[in-house]
Amino acid sequence: MEEIVGLCKRRGFIFPSSEIYGGYNGFYDYGPLGVELRNNIKQAWWRDMVQRRDDIEGLDSTIIMHPDIWKASGHVDGFSDPMVDCRESKLRYRADQLFFAPVIVAGETIGYVSVVECPQQQEIAEKAAADIKRKAAKQGTLEPIVLKDYTESKPEEYDLVPSPATGKPGSLTAPREFKLMFETKVGPLADDSAVAYLRPETAQGIFANYKNIVDTGRVKIPFGIAQIGKAFRNEITPRNFIFRSREFEQMEIEYFIAPSADWKALHREWIDTCIDWLVSIGLPRASITEDIHPEDKLAFYSQATTDLMFQFPHGEQELWGVACRGDYDLKQHQEHSGKSMTIFDEASKEKYVPHVIEPSLGVDRTLLAVLTAAYTIDEVPNDKGKVEERTLLKFSPKIAPVKAAIFPLLKNKPELVERAQALYQKLQRRWNVFYDASGAIGRRYRRQDEIGTPFGITIDFDTIEKDGTVTLRDRDTCEQRRVTEDQLIQFLEEQIDG
Ligand code: GAP
Repeated sequence: MEEIVGLCKRRGFIFPSSEIYGGYNGFYDYGPLGVELRNNIKQAWWRDMVQRRDDIEGLDSTIIMHPDIWKASGHVDGFSDPMVDCRESKLRYRADQLFFAPVIVAGETIGYVSVVECPQQQEIAEKAAADIKRKAAKQGTLEPIVLKDYTESKPEEYDLVPSPATGKPGSLTAPREFKLMFETKVGPLADDSAVAYLRPETAQGIFANYKNIVDTGRVKIPFGIAQIGKAFRNEITPRNFIFRSREFEQMEIEYFIAPSADWKALHREWIDTCIDWLVSIGLPRASITEDIHPEDKLAFYSQATTDLMFQFPHGEQELWGVACRGDYDLKQHQEHSGKSMTIFDEASKEKYVPHVIEPSLGVDRTLLAVLTAAYTIDEVPNDKGKVEERTLLKFSPKIAPVKAAIFPLLKNKPELVERAQALYQKLQRRWNVFYDASGAIGRRYRRQDEIGTPFGITIDFDTIEKDGTVTLRDRDTCEQRRVTEDQLIQFLEEQIDG
């Protein structure tokens, strides 16, 4: 993760927000390359999920909506995470990310260990338990350490579990609910009637506009409404770079189906569509797994949820949630707004409130997954034939921030520069391309490899003196071949837009 964070900063993908004031925890800014990558991910999703499908309509609703929407959806009362404070260090933890276990030797509890969720948590806890046993000079067998999260702690354990910050027991509070929605005030009144919220998900904007789209569009069941937009959550512990931040972006679909439809089959179809899409933007199929939520952990209205998990640098974590939410949201809005949410199904001649399948994906998490999958270190020969280590980002050409770099072989030969500039300006009309004339050609290639530019195009003396062909270099294999300008454009079209 540190290497990816370093590369993102060095090459202008992602910066900590407000960095000149020391940064602002949980907020990130996207620099020149980051904004291109981010836009390309969103465009690819919009094109594949909205424009290339006949059954999905797009929407762009406001971030601040009528506060009653959040009462109806259950967010005002229920959108919170369990939190625990360390009274001594003043640090705050998400209780479900803080793990603890009793240290039991020869049947007797001689202390407790605690650890913040991480891939090595079991090892860390076992080592801490062995230390406690050694310090206590206790003879006998140390029983296996069985970690539980702090939401499962009992009141008599609060004073016994050590704080991960201090290593000492006695400073952790009981878990309590922490509200995640950011509040603001709308209008000139400063009283409670002015309280509004920054949306914590884009989904409710879809439900709130469902009736508009049904009444104005030509939709028929099954159909979906898609939205890309910012969401805000006052996360207790934003961490792991852009994986969990306080301001992020979501790409969500609410897919409306008949109550009698085979929702299990449709759920499966959506899971497969989502996996295929992730593979299409360059994530290896083997790095994506499915986490099926156990029935006893589902929200009362939910029929099923499967998370698509990705192997992030900090471990396997949720990337995309695909939930079957029944008719809960529409019925809640029907009840609170007094407006009917029924639809007339032409095919079955029935009137009903549809059920919904919700694929919900974070833009920033997708970007981190794409960076993780693309980040590569290999060895290639330099200009002098000496093998050197290189860092490269193997982005799919579809989402790469810069699609191609155009180089005149030498910058002091006007005929090369002129020809390279002409090609650059021609390609620039269609794609985000880069012109670079400075430094040895090998160094110029490396600079582009590091930001994931898939193709290098060099104009040399053969271009101007012989057949007009240019050298086309592949980022991943470093192979070079000569192509005509027509062949080049056709190739780029296939690779980037195909
Ligand atoms: N409407 C359903 C919903 O919002 P969620 O699981 O809370 O469900 C959906 O969020 C997706 O949004 C997640 O799978 C993740 O990709 C992204 N996401 C959620 N919280 C995030 C955060 N704090 N930072 C970055 N991405 C987040």
